[in-house]
Amino acid sequence: MPIVNWSDEYSVNVAEIDAQHKELLKLVNGLHAAVESCIGKDELKDKLINLTEFTRHHFATEEELMKQHDYPDLVRHHKEHRTLLRHMDELVAMVSNGRSPTFYSDYDVSTDWALLHIEEHDRDLGHFLNAKGIG
Ligand SMILES: [Fe+2]
Ligand SMILES: [Fe+2]
Repeated sequence: MPIVNWSDEYSVNVAEIDAQHKELLKLVNGLHAAVESCIGKDELKDKLINLTEFTRHHFATEEELMKQHDYPDLVRHHKEHRTLLRHMDELVAMVSNGRSPTFYSDYDVSTDWALLHIEEHDRDLGHFLNAKGIG
Protein backbone atom coordinates (compact mmCIF):
# COMPACT_ATOMS: atom_id res chain seq x y z
CA MET A 1 0.00 0.00 0.00
CA PRO A 2 1.41 3.42 -0.91
CA ILE A 3 2.38 5.45 2.13
CA VAL A 4 1.49 8.75 0.49
CA ASN A 5 -1.18 9.23 -2.14
CA TRP A 6 -1.37 12.14 -4.50
CA SER A 7 -4.63 13.99 -4.25
CA ASP A 8 -5.72 17.11 -6.11
CA GLU A 9 -5.91 18.89 -2.78
CA TYR A 10 -2.08 18.89 -2.82
CA SER A 11 -2.00 20.80 -6.07
CA VAL A 12 -0.23 24.16 -5.81
CA ASN A 13 -1.73 25.10 -9.17
CA VAL A 14 1.62 25.37 -10.96
CA ALA A 15 1.89 22.61 -13.58
CA GLU A 16 5.67 22.09 -13.43
CA ILE A 17 5.72 21.91 -9.62
CA ASP A 18 2.68 19.61 -9.44
CA ALA A 19 4.22 17.22 -11.99
CA GLN A 20 7.43 17.05 -9.93
CA HIS A 21 5.50 16.57 -6.69
CA LYS A 22 3.66 13.61 -8.23
CA GLU A 23 6.96 12.07 -9.29
CA LEU A 24 8.39 12.73 -5.82
CA LEU A 25 5.50 10.88 -4.16
CA LYS A 26 5.97 8.01 -6.59
CA LEU A 27 9.61 7.73 -5.54
CA VAL A 28 8.70 8.01 -1.85
CA ASN A 29 6.17 5.19 -2.27
CA GLY A 30 8.70 3.09 -4.14
CA LEU A 31 11.23 3.54 -1.35
CA HIS A 32 8.66 2.74 1.30
CA ALA A 33 7.61 -0.43 -0.53
CA ALA A 34 11.27 -1.38 -0.80
CA VAL A 35 11.79 -0.94 2.96
CA GLU A 36 8.63 -2.94 3.71
CA SER A 37 9.63 -5.82 1.49
CA CYS A 38 13.16 -5.91 2.91
CA ILE A 39 14.86 -5.79 -0.49
CA GLY A 40 18.61 -5.95 -0.79
CA LYS A 41 20.71 -3.10 0.53
CA ASP A 42 22.06 -2.14 -2.88
CA GLU A 43 18.63 -1.82 -4.40
CA LEU A 44 17.44 0.15 -1.39
CA LYS A 45 20.43 2.44 -1.69
CA ASP A 46 19.69 3.00 -5.40
CA LYS A 47 16.10 3.93 -4.64
CA LEU A 48 17.17 6.27 -1.88
CA ILE A 49 19.74 7.93 -4.13
CA ASN A 50 17.13 8.34 -6.90
CA LEU A 51 14.75 9.98 -4.46
CA THR A 52 17.48 12.25 -3.09
CA GLU A 53 18.67 13.32 -6.53
CA PHE A 54 15.16 13.96 -7.79
CA THR A 55 14.49 15.99 -4.64
CA ARG A 56 17.62 18.05 -5.31
CA HIS A 57 16.44 18.66 -8.87
CA HIS A 58 12.93 19.56 -7.70
CA PHE A 59 14.18 22.01 -5.07
CA ALA A 60 16.43 23.65 -7.67
CA THR A 61 13.38 24.11 -9.94
CA GLU A 62 11.43 25.80 -7.16
CA GLU A 63 14.39 27.92 -6.10
CA GLU A 64 14.89 29.11 -9.68
CA LEU A 65 11.24 30.14 -9.89
CA MET A 66 11.55 31.94 -6.54
CA LYS A 67 14.62 33.85 -7.72
CA GLN A 68 13.13 34.72 -11.11
CA HIS A 69 10.04 36.19 -9.49
CA ASP A 70 11.57 37.76 -6.36
CA TYR A 71 9.67 35.56 -3.96
CA PRO A 72 9.67 37.40 -0.61
CA ASP A 73 9.88 34.20 1.47
CA LEU A 74 12.80 32.80 -0.53
CA VAL A 75 15.30 32.64 2.35
CA ARG A 76 13.03 30.67 4.66
CA HIS A 77 11.94 28.30 1.88
CA HIS A 78 15.57 27.75 0.81
CA LYS A 79 16.53 26.98 4.38
CA GLU A 80 13.77 24.39 4.63
CA HIS A 81 15.01 22.76 1.40
CA ARG A 82 18.60 22.67 2.71
CA THR A 83 17.48 21.04 5.96
CA LEU A 84 15.48 18.35 4.13
CA LEU A 85 18.31 17.63 1.69
CA ARG A 86 20.81 17.37 4.55
CA HIS A 87 18.59 14.70 6.14
CA MET A 88 18.30 12.88 2.82
CA ASP A 89 22.07 12.98 2.33
CA GLU A 90 22.57 11.65 5.87
CA LEU A 91 20.19 8.82 5.10
CA VAL A 92 22.12 7.98 1.91
CA ALA A 93 25.37 8.01 3.92
CA MET A 94 23.80 5.76 6.54
CA VAL A 95 22.65 3.21 3.96
CA SER A 96 25.99 3.46 2.17
CA ASN A 97 27.65 2.52 5.45
CA GLY A 98 25.61 -0.67 5.60
CA ARG A 99 22.76 0.36 7.87
CA SER A 100 19.18 -0.41 6.91
CA PRO A 101 16.72 2.38 7.63
CA THR A 102 14.31 0.21 9.57
CA PHE A 103 13.33 2.72 12.22
CA TYR A 104 10.61 5.21 11.59
CA SER A 105 12.90 7.95 12.84
CA ASP A 106 15.32 7.01 10.05
CA TYR A 107 13.08 6.94 7.06
CA ASP A 108 10.35 9.28 8.23
CA VAL A 109 12.26 12.00 6.49
CA SER A 110 11.66 10.31 3.17
CA THR A 111 7.98 9.68 3.69
CA ASP A 112 5.70 12.36 5.08
CA TRP A 113 8.16 15.24 4.75
CA ALA A 114 7.11 15.64 1.12
CA LEU A 115 3.45 16.24 1.90
CA LEU A 116 4.23 18.42 4.91
CA HIS A 117 6.56 20.55 2.85
CA ILE A 118 3.98 20.92 0.07
CA GLU A 119 1.34 22.00 2.57
CA GLU A 120 3.51 24.31 4.65
CA HIS A 121 5.75 25.92 2.05
CA ASP A 122 4.97 25.11 -1.58
CA ARG A 123 1.33 26.10 -1.31
CA ASP A 124 2.28 29.70 -0.48
CA LEU A 125 4.77 29.71 -3.33
CA GLY A 126 2.02 28.46 -5.66
CA HIS A 127 -0.32 31.28 -4.61
CA PHE A 128 2.45 33.81 -5.16
CA LEU A 129 3.30 32.45 -8.62
CA ASN A 130 -0.37 32.29 -9.59
CA ALA A 131 -0.69 35.98 -8.72
CA LYS A 132 2.22 36.61 -11.14
CA GLY A 133 0.31 34.77 -13.87
CA ILE A 134 2.24 31.50 -13.61
CA GLY A 135 0.23 28.33 -13.37
FE1 LIG B 1 9.64 23.66 -1.69
FE1 LIG C 1 8.10 21.17 -3.65
